[in-house]
Amino acid sequence: MDEYEQARYAGDEAYEPLLSEKDETTVAVTDSPLPDDLTRDEVTLPKLSEPELARHYVRLSQMNYGVDTGPYPLGSCTMKYNPTFTEDVAAHPGAAVHPDRSAGSVQGTLELLHSLQDYLGRIGGMDAVTLQPPAGAAGEFAGIAVARTYHEANGEGDQRREIVVPDSAHGTNFATAALAGYDVVSLPSGADGRVDLDALEAAVGEETAALMLTNPNTLGLFERDIEAIADVVHDAGGLLYYDGANLNALLGRARPGDMGFDVMHFNVHKTFATPHGGGGPGAGPVGVTDELAEFLPRPQVRETDDGDYELFEPANSIGKVHGQVGNWPVLVKAYAYLVRLGDAGLRDASGKAVLNANYLAEQIPYEVPYGPFHHEFVASAGEQDAADVAKRMLDYAVHPPTTKWPETVPEALMTEPTESEGVRGLDQLATAFSRVAAEDEETVASAPEKTAARLIDQTSAARNPRLSWHALGENE
Ligand SMILES: Cc1ncc(COP(=O)(O)O)c(C=O)c1O
Repeated sequence: MDEYEQARYAGDEAYEPLLSEKDETTVAVTDSPLPDDLTRDEVTLPKLSEPELARHYVRLSQMNYGVDTGPYPLGSCTMKYNPTFTEDVAAHPGAAVHPDRSAGSVQGTLELLHSLQDYLGRIGGMDAVTLQPPAGAAGEFAGIAVARTYHEANGEGDQRREIVVPDSAHGTNFATAALAGYDVVSLPSGADGRVDLDALEAAVGEETAALMLTNPNTLGLFERDIEAIADVVHDAGGLLYYDGANLNALLGRARPGDMGFDVMHFNVHKTFATPHGGGGPGAGPVGVTDELAEFLPRPQVRETDDGDYELFEPANSIGKVHGQVGNWPVLVKAYAYLVRLGDAGLRDASGKAVLNANYLAEQIPYEVPYGPFHHEFVASAGEQDAADVAKRMLDYAVHPPTTKWPETVPEALMTEPTESEGVRGLDQLATAFSRVAAEDEETVASAPEKTAARLIDQTSAARNPRLSWHALGENE
């Protein structure tokens, strides 16, 4: 019995040794094309068979939870299923072009990027789009940098030092504003969970550079006063920034540009089912109105009068925010998804996102304080601790919702089933919520029991963190 099996039969947490613990074989290095002074004579490597290797990685993957494992209603994060056909498209040999090739030799690549810019512009109601930023948060930063440069060009850069952010907003909005050098003004939500126009009027003024808003907001509530909100911000000389993280609720039905937004980012991994970003392999294209187009990052793609495609630099560009044309494989996946669904499919996706959230909210025993909501809802765990509820849900083989945020709802369970969940997945989630809601405090607080890693000692984890890997039994 190897260490893995021993640990497994001992009933402890799942354990999988490193490959180097399974075997260490010393191999002589011969025939290296490198100079002698850069070459070792021998290296120690694990010598394993293909089945051993396959089992190693499958075991590791089984300790994790993913969208391919089961429902994943992590509110605001929009963890929808990523169809694998987009991977095939991105892996197509023709899609692998060297970034330094001349425009003339990569016309197909540029045409795809141009079509994506165009499609996103139509979806968002924006006049120009850059594909450069590599995540939603990076898109926010690029978009706010565009807004800052716009104010500077109007001679108001020194005066407009504030960005207004609703208190229910995602943390990246506050971080973006601060990182871009602005003072952050937190806007208290109204009693209905939406922007309170009186509070907005009090917060906005000659120092306002922008209001950052998502619609529907993070409580899943549509900002019905969006036109009035846009007027307040514009009358004060500020810009309206749209955080596109919740755009999957509106696809094919309403457009941020038509609501009065001046600048927005798209989270392609939330809206178009490409792998999730979070600073990882994502993309966060930014769209703007005509007035701001000259400040977009470079390069962008345009069509010439001859029907060719070329890269160009907008007149007063803020510069580069990412290498080359952006995160190319992720953009290809987003484009493949868009083309596959088409206009009707996108509209259908937003309808299902909203229907699924409303269906699930009807089934669960927890109170949902605000409504009517769109693609996500925030329930309150009431007397239970939302973090414990989340850990207990893992024992019922579903991923938990986002917890304890927004803080405007006590013990918040921010739930977003997404459009990719079918009725069986929704019922599975509802059952998990109902079971946990009916359980006693001790059972819920001691969860999880069935996951690879069990309940951790949070105090020790904070005071004596183990920041590197240790073999089982070592340094307990
Ligand atoms: C509302 C909202 N805005 C911005 C972001 C940041 O997006 P990303 O994870 O791509 O950086 C998120 C991510 O969860 C979000 O939910």
